[in-house]
Amino acid sequence: MLQSELTARRLKEKIPFHVLTLDEWSKNDINHLLERAQFFTGQPRQQPNNRYYAANLFFEPSTRTKISFEAAEKNLGLDVLHFEADTSSVKKGETLYDTVKTIESIGADIVVIRHGQERYFDELTRKVDIPIINGGDGCGHHPTQSLLDLLTIKQEFGGFEGIQVVIAGDIFHSRVARSNLDVLERLGADVRVSGPEGWMDETLMKRYLPMDEAVKSADVLMMLRIQHERHTVQMVAGPEEYHQRFGLTKTREKKMKPNSIIMHPAPINRGVEMDSDLVECDRSRIFKQMKNGVFVRMAVLDLCLQQSNGGISI
Ligand code: NCD
Repeated sequence: MLQSELTARRLKEKIPFHVLTLDEWSKNDINHLLERAQFFTGQPRQQPNNRYYAANLFFEPSTRTKISFEAAEKNLGLDVLHFEADTSSVKKGETLYDTVKTIESIGADIVVIRHGQERYFDELTRKVDIPIINGGDGCGHHPTQSLLDLLTIKQEFGGFEGIQVVIAGDIFHSRVARSNLDVLERLGADVRVSGPEGWMDETLMKRYLPMDEAVKSADVLMMLRIQHERHTVQMVAGPEEYHQRFGLTKTREKKMKPNSIIMHPAPINRGVEMDSDLVECDRSRIFKQMKNGVFVRMAVLDLCLQQSNGGISI
């Protein structure tokens, strides 16, 4: 193939081929580039070793979920397309739909989205042709967190039937609680809740246990972070009062059953939801949950991509 004038010039100059402006591109340079692009339009994308592109679109802060999706994607051999909401065209007012459609057009085979709007995906699923994995939608759902929690419980107890799980804290604003409540019950667990009554509704109150009772009967004590960013009115209790009334104090931990475990999706407000020293205590499975997150997300990605891979695992 003939070199473009620009390439030839750059080769002679021995400088990297930056594309900063088209100011110095001749008509021939441009035509050459366009011909090359046209050539690529007719080429099937090379997929040695099942090469797929994944994009992680996080519009809310995240450490664990985002990085563990990325690790899962890399473990499966997927290529990760980089996206940062703060430096993307979202800042210019681009809608979520246009952003996703753009990512799809550029070639993403799968997209992971976290967004503050509950059920943001309802509109997208009708119009987007690639799998969307929900990494959390406002107070709505967080399916992969729930799956990693389930894996952690199953590894510990071998199953769910008859296991008492107490979900404690800011139930009302927590997508983790919402995702877990229903699924754990369907799997046969005895699901209870604890925390400030103002964060419960009537259906939840039927399952209510005060924290002092909860610690004695729970097999799994699943603590939740206070979702300050989703509160419309300020909390009545300060951090210390919350800790004493609703949190997992060291005194309460001592009352837990010998084989019961502590979970928390993290990030943790140390000293508020739970005593800082308990984060890494023997019965804590918090870092195990994070490890499991990678495996669960690999399985989810694999499942979603099977269709594009003729029904077989990627
Ligand atoms: C949770 C979330 O974002 O919903 N965190 C997570 O994904 N590990 C819980 C939280 O932020 O409190």
